[in-house]
Amino acid sequence: MKKKIRLGFIGGGYNSLIGVLHKVSAYMHDRYEIVGGVFNSKYEDSIESARQIGINRERIYKDIDNMIASEKEIPTESRIEAVCILTPNNSHFEIAKKFLDNKYHIICEKPLTISLHEAKQLLSIKEKNNLVFAVTHTYSGYPMVRQMTKMISEGLIGNIQRVDAQYLQGWINPIIHEKKKRKSSWRLDPKISGISSCVADIGTHAFNMLELVSGLKVHKILADLNNLYKDNPLDIDANILVRMNNGAKGVIRSSQIATGEENNLRVNVYGDKGYLKWQQENPNKLYFLKENEPIKVLKPGHEYNYPISLNSSKLPPGHPEGIFDAMGNIYLGAAKAIRGDNFYDHEFPTIYEGVRGMDFIEKVIDSHNRGNVWLELEK
Ligand SMILES: NC(=O)c1ccc[n+]([C@@H]2O[C@H](COP(=O)([O-])OP(=O)(O)OC[C@H]3O[C@@H](n4cnc5c(N)ncnc54)[C@H](O)[C@@H]3O)[C@@H](O)[C@H]2O)c1
Repeated sequence: MKKKIRLGFIGGGYNSLIGVLHKVSAYMHDRYEIVGGVFNSKYEDSIESARQIGINRERIYKDIDNMIASEKEIPTESRIEAVCILTPNNSHFEIAKKFLDNKYHIICEKPLTISLHEAKQLLSIKEKNNLVFAVTHTYSGYPMVRQMTKMISEGLIGNIQRVDAQYLQGWINPIIHEKKKRKSSWRLDPKISGISSCVADIGTHAFNMLELVSGLKVHKILADLNNLYKDNPLDIDANILVRMNNGAKGVIRSSQIATGEENNLRVNVYGDKGYLKWQQENPNKLYFLKENEPIKVLKPGHEYNYPISLNSSKLPPGHPEGIFDAMGNIYLGAAKAIRGDNFYDHEFPTIYEGVRGMDFIEKVIDSHNRGNVWLELEK
């Protein structure tokens, strides 16, 4: 058994949305041990976060600079080796840069930064220092997403001729219609969220999913966004036409005002020989359709799945696994990379996907602001 990776948490405190997913996922495959960090922006809250999960308060720091300086005093074999960054979007860059400069591996939430320029700077430091940098596009960790990716790359649906990805939520509905309530969410504050709310938060997941499963790149986009109110500075709904680099056309839709929708991420890829569709709210079924043939429903854990999919399930077929398991699989892939073990292609999303996500966000906002024009993404 290899030595566990000593992990520090930045953000993800007891009062956060996403912290619990990362805590459980980090422990799932026995590859990490959380030893300290800065869980919250306020020190007292950080101490409370640490207390709740039994972390020694001596390794809880007032801020990042303090953490980096104090960890240097600890013998290498006990020092934190990797950090996960789970703070709101505007702080990812500064935090990641400091840790990369000090040779820490990184697992960072999306969107990677609040600008493409910042994202590229992180990429260049990561490459210079030869570090592992995962970006947690959570849904890529599902066994049936991995199966879909492999089936498409093996040609089972033929040449891709149409794509359709959507990520629809309705959670912002109760706060968007009242000016006062709008201030209650950092996701609508450009200083924290960046230039986008909906596209940065969930449109990027749909974009990432589309490029992952299709094996293609989005070549061009044309975006039409909706902020709903003039004094709401950020998008909360987006319809984006896409052209892929093989010429296929399609659409990415994302919304936070799709009333009644919960977490409706779907990806549909249509080839000239068949069609595959996967839905996040029903993640253990992958639908495979062909003209004039009965529909096939593939499920996790069966021997007919490819190894990367099969090895992403921990239990025999019929024991549904969900989002915690998907994130656990991403943590496992990143752990293999950190320890220098072999890992599958696409076993965890990397900073390269994070940089592409930032290019997508910037081009989408630009396309809309310039009057819904076609713009090319970087290659
Ligand atoms: N992968 C996904 O599906 C997914 C889902 C939700 C959120 N996210 C991303 O995760 C990030 C956090 O989102 P959230 O919804 O958990 O936010 P949140 O507001 O619920 O929690 C943020 C946490 O970070 C802490 N924090 C803030 N600034 C800090 C700092 N400078 N240093 C240390 N701690 C700090 C806060 O105290 C809090 O504990 C965002 O970038 C978001 O886009 C990703």
